[in-house]
Amino acid sequence: MKALVLAGGSGSRLRPITHTSAKQLVPVANKPVLFFGLESIAEAGVREVGIIVGDRAAEIESAVGDGSRFGLDVTYLPQEAPLGLAHAVHIARDYLGDDDFVMYLGDNFIVGGIRALVRRFQTERPDAQIMLARVSDPRAFGVVEVDGHGRVIALEEKPERPKSDLALVGVYLFTARVHEAVRRIKPSGRGELEITDAIQELVDAGCRVDSVVVSGYWKDTGNVADMLEVNRLVLDGIEADCSGEVHSSELIGRVVIERGATVTGSRIVGPVVVAAGSRIRDSYIGPFTSIDSDCAVTDSEVEYSIVLRGASIVGVRRIERSLIGREVEVVSTPGMLRSHRLVLGDHSKVQVVS
Ligand code: TTP
Repeated sequence: MKALVLAGGSGSRLRPITHTSAKQLVPVANKPVLFFGLESIAEAGVREVGIIVGDRAAEIESAVGDGSRFGLDVTYLPQEAPLGLAHAVHIARDYLGDDDFVMYLGDNFIVGGIRALVRRFQTERPDAQIMLARVSDPRAFGVVEVDGHGRVIALEEKPERPKSDLALVGVYLFTARVHEAVRRIKPSGRGELEITDAIQELVDAGCRVDSVVVSGYWKDTGNVADMLEVNRLVLDGIEADCSGEVHSSELIGRVVIERGATVTGSRIVGPVVVAAGSRIRDSYIGPFTSIDSDCAVTDSEVEYSIVLRGASIVGVRRIERSLIGREVEVVSTPGMLRSHRLVLGDHSKVQVVS
């Protein structure tokens, strides 16, 4: 069995972060989302992994390398444009050969890994197996109808009137039969080759497509709110570890201060991680915050947020529910008129206190 990991895409919902960086590399608890997926693929016993890459190929390749540190053997498969999930299967055709494969969306986060799902597929031998989750508003998802045995009857991409509350989760198991189905489908109204259409094609051809409803936690980190929620979940599982320098400060609960980070005159209420090279001074860092390497937080308050490498926050209270990009500066200027001075990249979002 092989794995096909999708790490291309346009990432429009995570702009402006995705103007300069791959969304799959945004860290949660200071580890890229993609790495969690690669670790669960390795844990499921799969070794050969094809990674679909788009505009951000160089960044993904430099982060993942040859995959050996995950125990994987990685091959990069360039996709000229984000033409759909089934298009990714199409361009991976030669790489996949006639092998079974697990397709994993690189921005998805699944608690508990995929080992049991892979094993079920190998034991049951359906033509394909998909994962489903119950969601409150299925209209934003691929929605699936199943029979009493969990066999898939019909799928619809982002329907206006969903026929069930079962949404497709970003892990799919396929036999080589999917390739005929991908060959037969046409681009959808949004111009993409949809994986839902390919799976429907399999069903229509009389293939057995099984479904498994995930009991554990699953999230697509494609937007900021979900990214922060996954960050919260991962931080919830950390153990306290203070290897950095801490002076005149209070650390409460599960706080990780990495070696090379310094905290002075501050109060940190976990779960929080502060990466190497970051300096926290005269500040409050509240629960569910990840501060990546080489950041400076001075005389500020930050809670339930992700702060990426090299950002600096000075004299600002309070930042909440925020994703702060790399090398971003957020500062207050005392004494100035009560006005905001903003230099924001395209598609930035700022919410100021009125
Ligand atoms: P999506 O999040 O559905 O698509 P997107 O990345 O284009 O994001 P947005 O809707 O915000 O514009 O993609 C799921 C995953 O699959 C993600 O890791 C990107 C990847 N992907 C590809 O590799 N190739 C593709 O053609 C598409 C559509 C997605």
